[in-house]
Amino acid sequence: MPNKIKNDKQTTIKAPIVEALKTAYSNPTYQFHIPGHTKGLGTLPDFRNLVGKKALTVDTTDEFDNLGTLTPATGPIKEAQILAAEAFGAAKTFFLLNGSTIGNLAIAMGLTKKGQKVIVNRNCHRSILTGLIISGAQPLWIIPEKLDDWGLWGNVDAKCVEKLLEENSDVSMVWITNPTYEGVVSDIAAIAKVCKKYNVPLIVDEAHGCLWNFNEKLPQTSLKLGADIVVHSLHKTGGSMSQSSMLHISEGSKINADDVERALMLLHTTSPSLMLLGSLDAARANLQSERGQKQLSRAIANAKYLRSEIDKMKTIHQLKSGFGFKTDVTKVFIKADGLSGKRLESILEIDFGIEVESASDIGVLILCNIGNKRSDFEYLVKCLNKIDSHDYKDIYYLENKKHMPMLTPIIKKSLRDAYFSPKEVVPTKEAVGRLSGEVVAECPPGISILLPGELITEAHLPYLTDYKEIEVLI
Ligand SMILES: Cc1ncc(COP(=O)(O)O)c(C=O)c1O
Repeated sequence: MPNKIKNDKQTTIKAPIVEALKTAYSNPTYQFHIPGHTKGLGTLPDFRNLVGKKALTVDTTDEFDNLGTLTPATGPIKEAQILAAEAFGAAKTFFLLNGSTIGNLAIAMGLTKKGQKVIVNRNCHRSILTGLIISGAQPLWIIPEKLDDWGLWGNVDAKCVEKLLEENSDVSMVWITNPTYEGVVSDIAAIAKVCKKYNVPLIVDEAHGCLWNFNEKLPQTSLKLGADIVVHSLHKTGGSMSQSSMLHISEGSKINADDVERALMLLHTTSPSLMLLGSLDAARANLQSERGQKQLSRAIANAKYLRSEIDKMKTIHQLKSGFGFKTDVTKVFIKADGLSGKRLESILEIDFGIEVESASDIGVLILCNIGNKRSDFEYLVKCLNKIDSHDYKDIYYLENKKHMPMLTPIIKKSLRDAYFSPKEVVPTKEAVGRLSGEVVAECPPGISILLPGELITEAHLPYLTDYKEIEVLI
């Protein structure tokens, strides 16, 4: 497996931040600095007992205990970033706090300017949109194929990218989300080829694909397929703590890494959590280790087991490769005849104590994670079999709200101009026919329902049932 991580039993896998934290823990100092909870003594004892004294002792920031600094990267943090770049197949890697969100903000802020055109798939995460509002770049939307039977967005077609590049000679970059939240994979190699032809950088928001370089049964990472920058939410599936992510610059990238680094420096907290940074270091080291490799193989085997069991069920169906696009096997999107996704989610939770990743109008998303055991899946299959053989349809479930925005936007004003235009707040029902003044994008999956400058129509109302009021342009 030439492009994937090789696991050599003889190699010691280093984790410099973890090592530095261990050293700091074993050599306590009299602490007259932040954080003021001072090893957890200055907080509620209940909280200290819940998370553990040790965790609060290593909750420190980057100025102390020879732990290095995040911006600019020095010491163990710099070393850990270099090791991460090697592991993920990048030329340079930046550790991110505040998730992939900050990575996307930094890309927009560092690499685009007011008025520049950026080709983006409409079902991107709201952090990309926020980035474009900050920079003032103008999105040229790609509306991917819609998988109506599943209520999901499909993949991005390279031909659509090429068409937009042909029609617009002044595009500054192409920014694609791959895979989708539910695991639909686009042909990044083909998109990269088109970008190369037009000499435009390709940025891939691979927030949900951080495991791909660690097992050949998973799709190829965009870093190997010609992307210039890739963003990974390690905390989503890679095993690091919530909020911790990575931004990778590829070998031979057309973009200037310094521009991204400068933006990151402005956007990042000046008190980075060493716990979160250490968890990124640990997650990468774990994925490279024999143990982590086994966990990932087990996750894939568990996913295949779950999928083969679902195939035997009569009323439960799964989204899978072969429907005209590829999928990531570890993300299992299922739907059940006669049940909305929200209803299926509540049956799983209330009747069986199972919590899934998310639910939409049509189905639920199950993640087969590296931390899950086979017995978790055996239990899930048992419960799904019960749902399959029982008639749950008779239970009426009141669900007026729609969850996965699949609308084609009617754009009347540019994103940034609309965002900074005078606005007023009106009752949502009276907003039909007006232009939105705000980004409405609920998480998960953080895909926008409405953006500033877009016409609000009757079709938006089922997605806005939780909003009594909405900001519109005056
Ligand atoms: C495609 C995509 N990109 C970026 C993000 C933002 O990631 P984070 O939660 O790590 O900030 C998300 C979050 O759900 C996402 O789905």
